[in-house]
Amino acid sequence: MMRGLNTYDSFRSIIDRVSTGKRKPDAVIATGDLVQDETRKGYERFRGLVGELNVPVHCIPGNHDSPRIMAEILNEPPFQFCGSAIYQNWCLIMLNSVVRWDDGGQLEASQLEILDQTLNANKSQHALICMHHHPIPMGSAWMDGGLGLRNSDEFLKVIDQHDNVRGVAWGHVHQASDRERNGVALFSTPSTCAQFLPNSDVFMMDTRPPGYRWVNLMPDGSIETEVVWLT
Ligand SMILES: [Fe+2]
Repeated sequence: MMRGLNTYDSFRSIIDRVSTGKRKPDAVIATGDLVQDETRKGYERFRGLVGELNVPVHCIPGNHDSPRIMAEILNEPPFQFCGSAIYQNWCLIMLNSVVRWDDGGQLEASQLEILDQTLNANKSQHALICMHHHPIPMGSAWMDGGLGLRNSDEFLKVIDQHDNVRGVAWGHVHQASDRERNGVALFSTPSTCAQFLPNSDVFMMDTRPPGYRWVNLMPDGSIETEVVWLT
């Protein structure tokens, strides 16, 4: 449960909406906080539900996850724990920004190195980078004061050295946002359960319903994206 909302039921509704919709995804990116109670059973339920879509599922841990259990249960095809993947002329790079027992995030030197190396090795590919924590301020004091990616300056420095980065996506903030920096699209995806009120300096719940985001990676390197709210 989250704030009176059954998170399994709302997630089930999202999967139903996607699986019965006209448009089928080629893959799913799950940007973290997949299970709150860190149980194997929780991850197995997640695996069972998303597995119904029969597409690759890229899983990134969040501050409420157990990266160890996640990597154990969600790292066999069609599931992949972090790492990278190629889809036509796009490269997806999934980073682990979790600091255990801490709600704020950090990219360890090894993650920054993987990022730099993967971008170098795929220069001819457009790149979308995904992680859990927000690498730029969201405009909410409570969220920006220590809950985001603490070494975002180091992250931004790496992506600034590569001209094939087209987008950066994250979860964590329970709200949709769309920004741009140096021609790179920066966007957050709403939660599949309850949302937080954007631009509020104190913690406030939003009345928006559960949601998810379509991300269309176009052959020319542009990104067309759209948030769907469950009504
Ligand atoms: Fe989170």
